[in-house]
Amino acid sequence: MKAAVDDIGLCFVATASSDGMPNVSPKGSLTVWDGDHLAFANIASPRTMKNIKENLKLEINTIDQICRRGFRFKETGEIFERGDVFDHVANDIWNREGRDVPIHAIVKVRVLEAQEVLSPAYWLRKGVTVEEVRQVWAGRFGYKIIPK
Ligand SMILES: Cc1cc2nc3c(=O)[nH]c(=O)nc-3n(C[C@H](O)[C@H](O)[C@H](O)COP(=O)(O)O)c2cc1C
Repeated sequence: MKAAVDDIGLCFVATASSDGMPNVSPKGSLTVWDGDHLAFANIASPRTMKNIKENLKLEINTIDQICRRGFRFKETGEIFERGDVFDHVANDIWNREGRDVPIHAIVKVRVLEAQEVLSPAYWLRKGVTVEEVRQVWAGRFGYKIIPK
């Protein structure tokens, strides 16, 4: 799961306002903090942040588009605008993406429940391998698979 979070590099964060209005938005900054926590950066996510301040429950989905599988995490979020958590995650992003990325806060999320999500492609053809699914979908998107 930890490897998948880093490899996939994109997730969708679902939050809800205090009156239950859902909000889902993408985050490319999701990273593993430790065995129980993930973290992402607030760079341009006003609604997500407003919702977390009103209601700390959230769900994150991260799915590998080509392998058609991923994970979903139910969690609670905590906002850090300075301090060790902020510095650690923000420095990783600044080292990778450049110092001009405007990071307003880091949301550290405590994972309460984690579940693998598989496309029906895996159930419909019994015994199909991840590699076979990857080949089919890479072909559909016109991607060439280059081994890492
Ligand atoms: C691929 C992708 C990755 C993104 N990654 C982040 C991110 O890590 N942090 C962030 O704050 N915004 C990120 N954004 C931008 C937000 O998703 C976007 O500003 C969105 O409208 C915020 O909506 P919200 O206020 O409902 O959260 C990303 C957008 C895309 C398309």
